Amino acid sequence: MTAKIIDGKAVAAEVRAEVAAVVAQRVEAGKSRPGLATVLVGENPASQVYVRMKQKACAEAGIESFGYNLPEDTSQEDLEKLVRELNADERVNGILVQLPLPKHLDEERVLAAISLDKDVDGFHPVNIGRLAQKGRKPQFIPCTPAGCMLLLRKNLDSLEGVNAVVLGRSNIVGMPVALLLVEANATVTICHSRTKNLPDVVRQADVLVAAVGRPEMVRGDWIKPGAVVIDVGVNRIDDPSAKNGTRLVGDVAYDEAVEVAGAITPVPGGVGPMTIAMLLQNTLKAAELSDK
Ligand code: GUN
Repeated sequence: MTAKIIDGKAVAAEVRAEVAAVVAQRVEAGKSRPGLATVLVGENPASQVYVRMKQKACAEAGIESFGYNLPEDTSQEDLEKLVRELNADERVNGILVQLPLPKHLDEERVLAAISLDKDVDGFHPVNIGRLAQKGRKPQFIPCTPAGCMLLLRKNLDSLEGVNAVVLGRSNIVGMPVALLLVEANATVTICHSRTKNLPDVVRQADVLVAAVGRPEMVRGDWIKPGAVVIDVGVNRIDDPSAKNGTRLVGDVAYDEAVEVAGAITPVPGGVGPMTIAMLLQNTLKAAELSDK
C-alpha cells in the first residue's frame, strides 16, 4: 500500500482564495483593507525568502503589506520602538517579526512588545500561555502549527484518543502543535534529542508530526502502518543529480515512509504552503477584530 499524498499546496490555495474573497467583500463594504507589517532584522537568506513569500501572498489576497528591513546590528531599543510604532499604526492589523532574530536581541521581549490584537504569529507569551491552559482560547494560533492541524483534520475523522507523537520541542512548531493536539483530545508524546528508544516511541504514533530539522531522520521502519505523517522539516541537502546540486527534503525519509504510512505530506508542497495561508487568515481575523 502506498500512502495518500496530502496536498498542502491545494489546501493552502483554498484557504488563500477564501481569505481573498472575504477581503474583497470587506473592502467593497467600505471597511479597511487588512494590513500586515513584516519586520526582518539582518540578512538571513532563508528569512529573506520567507518574508518575500509572505508579502507576495498578502498582495495576492488583497492584504496590504508594510516591509521593514533593519540592519543586523539593530539595537533592542530600536526594534522595540518600531514594534510600538506599528502597534499604534491603524493601517497595520498584524505584526510579524521574522525569527530567528540576531543573537544579541532578546526575542522574548520583542514578542511581548507586540500588541495582543496584532499578534498574528501567536507567539506573544500571553497567547502561548492561553494555548497551554485548558479552556483558555488564544487570540491567534501560531501559523505552522495551525496549518498542521488543518491538514490533520482534513485527513482524519477524529483526533480523539489517537496516539500523536511530536518530534521536536521548538517554540515555533513542536510545543504549540503538541498543545493543539492535546486540546483536540489526542494522547501526545513529545520527543526530543534526549528521548530514549526514539524509533520505538515513533512506532506507537497514529499521528506523527516531525519538526526537528534533521534531513530524513525518520526512517520508513519507524512508522506505524497506516499512520498520518506530517513532515514540517525543510532541509537542503547536496544532490549532484539535482538542478542546483541541492534539493529540499523533510525530516522523514519520504520514499520509505510513503510505502508504510496511510497519508503523508510531501516536502516541498506539504506543510510549507500552509504557514503562509494561516498567516493570511490570522491577518484577516486581526482586521475583523479592529472593526469592533
Ligand atoms: N521563522 C520560522 N517560522 C516562522 C513563523 O512562522 N513566524 C515567524 N515570525 N518566524 C518564523
